[in-house]
Amino acid sequence: PLLDYYGAQSKLFTMPGVGHVLTIFNQLCAELDARKHDIQSVMHETRRFAPSEAFVVAAAVDAERLQALHRHAAEDHVGFWAAQARTHLTWQRMFDHALDDSRAPHYQWFSGGLINASYNCLDRHLDTRGEQVAITFETDDAQVIRYTYAELHRQVCQLGNALRSLGIGKGDRVVLYLPMGPQAVIAMQACARIGAVHSAVFGGFSADSLKDRIEDAGARLVITADAAPRGGKRVDLKGAVDKALSNGGCASVERVLVYQRMDGCPMHPQRDLRWQDLVPSQPTHCEPEWVDAGHPLFLLYTSGSTGKPKGVQHSTGGYLLGATVTMQWVFDLKPGDVFWCTADVGWITGHSYVAYGPLANGIEQVMFEGVPTYPDGERFWRMIAAHKVSIFYTAPTAIRALMRLGDELPARHDLSSLRLLGTVGEPINPEAWLWYHRVIGGGRCPIVDTWWQTETGAMMIAPVPGAMPIKPGSCTRPLPGICIDIVDEDGVPVTQIGRGGLLVVTKPWPSMLSTIWGNDARYAETYFGRFGNSVYVAGDGAQRDEDGDVWILGRIDDVLNVSGHRLGTMEVESALAAHPRVAEAAVVGRPHDIKGEAILAFVVVRGEREHAIASGLQRELCGWVAEQLGAIARPDEVRLVDGLPKTRSGKIMRRLLRSIGAGQHLTQDTSTLENPAILDQLRG
Ligand code: WTA
Repeated sequence: PLLDYYGAQSKLFTMPGVGHVLTIFNQLCAELDARKHDIQSVMHETRRFAPSEAFVVAAAVDAERLQALHRHAAEDHVGFWAAQARTHLTWQRMFDHALDDSRAPHYQWFSGGLINASYNCLDRHLDTRGEQVAITFETDDAQVIRYTYAELHRQVCQLGNALRSLGIGKGDRVVLYLPMGPQAVIAMQACARIGAVHSAVFGGFSADSLKDRIEDAGARLVITADAAPRGGKRVDLKGAVDKALSNGGCASVERVLVYQRMDGCPMHPQRDLRWQDLVPSQPTHCEPEWVDAGHPLFLLYTSGSTGKPKGVQHSTGGYLLGATVTMQWVFDLKPGDVFWCTADVGWITGHSYVAYGPLANGIEQVMFEGVPTYPDGERFWRMIAAHKVSIFYTAPTAIRALMRLGDELPARHDLSSLRLLGTVGEPINPEAWLWYHRVIGGGRCPIVDTWWQTETGAMMIAPVPGAMPIKPGSCTRPLPGICIDIVDEDGVPVTQIGRGGLLVVTKPWPSMLSTIWGNDARYAETYFGRFGNSVYVAGDGAQRDEDGDVWILGRIDDVLNVSGHRLGTMEVESALAAHPRVAEAAVVGRPHDIKGEAILAFVVVRGEREHAIASGLQRELCGWVAEQLGAIARPDEVRLVDGLPKTRSGKIMRRLLRSIGAGQHLTQDTSTLENPAILDQLRG
């Protein structure tokens, strides 16, 4: 049976570029061999898990309703979305056209409509649930601070007024370099309130990365904090801002607003202002700026296959609709739910399912400042019990890390408040899925495996948990109004079950990116350059199984997924190449038990290789990359080599490097290598 299992699964991995999944699979096989008693459960990978009857009976969206939604969308794609937008958003002026495709691939959703995202997230709840908790915030050292909708509204209005007093208004870009916490949500909402465009930069990015993003966005204001406590350590933030702005960098920035979270920081007298000095004295009424539905709500920089991150631009109306309705469908939201999404606000998940979606739906959510393993590996479970979390949404990498610590830690806590679990960011291996289901969900909670991207704005392929069975490792079906296909290199739909292809979206959807900031051509080329203006190419490989369920096979471009974070191999390569002792570098992902993928860099040094090895250049280069790009980009290993494997036409053989990194038996033809002797060096 084991061989049958291997054989059945191997067809999953027939596409080039699906090394990531292949390696997860290899790990799985190794684990299977080592732990025979688990074989039974893992072999049930194709087993379906139906929701319990209790879940179905109470479901916000049951099978019948889901079918009705799908039918409506299939009959009238645009009309379906128009109906959703009328029902779930509050408009100052109703839109005239649900979809204007005259400038495709720049699709305009809900044109003629006037809206404000902050009004939709806050004001419209005040009459009915002003005193209900909006955010329960737990700090690194376990202090709990609650914000009701009324309180959050007040603080957003005050910050909105403060920003206006600094001359910030509609269309101005504001970069947020803030720790995970309510102030980040307040800052995003305040920008939205006055029509300013926020661009959050994850606190783990370096000063240089921050500088690139500020400059590309042309931001007039940066909002940051002095520092943030994280896992018992002090993470400096303002220092990085100072560095980014030093030596005439970021010339567009006029002011820096500093939220004092810890013990303070040096302030630049003409430029820097303290949040606590400016904001609390502001009036608590702040008239929302009503903007066109297409007005940019935010930019979020993400990695692509080139060396430069791109500013993904999202609209106000369409984006907010996506974040709002997908939460209702996938998270089965009901009054009384306590939702906890563990993503940092610096990533898209923290935008759609922390800063906007939960608030637009008027529910209570938990926010957490720290890390899952501080002060110990029970932190998440203790928090779920303490705050009676009912819906928990996290990344497979966190599940894998916590699974390692054993079943005893979660067993010490009452997790009975949970009724639904979710994952996002990377494929989840069946082992981790089954553990999450059994140990965290007590076998009773459906798991929604949600596929989406920074660019898609909201979940795209995911189960509607009360309406269908689920299987470990599959994100199941596209949501209503989302049209996807899997095509071959020529754009022809793949019909053969179990054959991989490129995942594409064949009709525009409201929460799709509007463009890449300042670069319409790159937008058109990157996403629509391959099969024409109506086919969005996601950059992932996927396949369907016998039931029509979708399995994501991972990125097909040079984008890495390290702990669920997107990183371009080219970004890491250019950071390495900027080091004076580096002549050339190639970077690949290699399988990692917890991170999913880890960074392995092959570097050709200037001068003597032996000397460089003796002087510990490898370690220096790891630190160098972390400094250049941020700690999340730190390579796991740097191998110094005399040359990189190249084809006769001079292209780096990345696939060969990936195989070497994964320690696989090489199937590639290496006879074209200019210098076969370097194979040994590459193997490390
Ligand atoms: C990957 C995160 C498998 C995928 C929301 C995608 C996933 C990239 C899943 C986007 C999933 C996301 N299963 N892979 N459920 N969700 N991915 O922009 O490769 O940070 O293209 O958005 O993550 O990453 P991003």
